[in-house]
Amino acid sequence: MGKLHSTQVIGIVSGKGGVGKTTVSANLAVSLASQGKKVMVFDADLGLANAQLALGCRAKYNFSHVLSGEKTLQEIIIEGPMGVQLVPGSSGIQHMASLSISEAAGIIQSFEEIEDDLDYLIVDLAAGLSDSVMTFIGACQHRFVIVKDDPSSIADAYASIKVMIQDYQLNNISIITNCMPSSAEGNRLYQGIISVIQRFVGGEVGHLGTIREDEMVLRSIKASKPLLTFSPSSAAARDFEKLAKEVAKLTAKTSISGGLQFFLERLARQDITNK
Ligand SMILES: Nc1ncnc2c1ncn2[C@@H]1O[C@H](COP(=O)(O)OP(=O)(O)OP(=O)(O)O)[C@@H](O)[C@H]1O
Ligand SMILES: [Mg+2]
Repeated sequence: MGKLHSTQVIGIVSGKGGVGKTTVSANLAVSLASQGKKVMVFDADLGLANAQLALGCRAKYNFSHVLSGEKTLQEIIIEGPMGVQLVPGSSGIQHMASLSISEAAGIIQSFEEIEDDLDYLIVDLAAGLSDSVMTFIGACQHRFVIVKDDPSSIADAYASIKVMIQDYQLNNISIITNCMPSSAEGNRLYQGIISVIQRFVGGEVGHLGTIREDEMVLRSIKASKPLLTFSPSSAAARDFEKLAKEVAKLTAKTSISGGLQFFLERLARQDITNK
């Protein structure tokens, strides 16, 4: 197993949909990869398989084929830009929360086979706090909450953080402010949210950084290229590079045991205890 336990598993969450989870998952992955890390994105969104779009690649098979036994995990993984690997999602992911013990064991086994020196597994989650989303969030080591400066995104981010801390006793939660006019505005948004959290919830929630609003984000998707290669000098691309450095610093400090196998075992264990 060796390096298996050094993989950092990051869950990308938000209360509200459409705030940039997939954009952040894909571009953070590419930025970390460009800094020499080995990264895999796991598209655990139940809806459209848009991590493929954000990475500019197209998969023939997806996770439902693994769950149905038609394909192995290895067979569905595709390679995107900078060597970022992608586990394409499907609506079948929702069954992850209701797998039998032997099915879960099979998936753990298949992840063990593909993984040898992965630094990061970034899990792009669906919006909201359904049971299956919480199952994934709980199994990750780090939880990055994406928030935009609009009232419903702020309210939903706050509500999600409250649930994670109070109902699920989760830690290692960080905020990423997205679609901001400037990093100063991002800091201000974070300060506003954290002051409410400190007052009514308690617990530590850090700020990993701000991604500025940038039309190049949309243009790069239209061009089927990741932002970092499509427009490396754009504001958002530079913000993602900065974000990747902060993530590397944060995860270097993390001494929690874990890794990929731990993530999958926790997924399986929650499945058992949920019944
Ligand atoms: N920093 C940004 N600047 C400009 N546009 C952005 C930025 N971040 C995200 N977007 C755009 O906002 C839209 C929503 O982003 P994205 O799909 O990443 O959100 P999501 O949280 O994954 O949504 P869903 O909940 O539907 O999965 C996309 O069109 C994306 O291109
Ligand atoms: Mg998405």
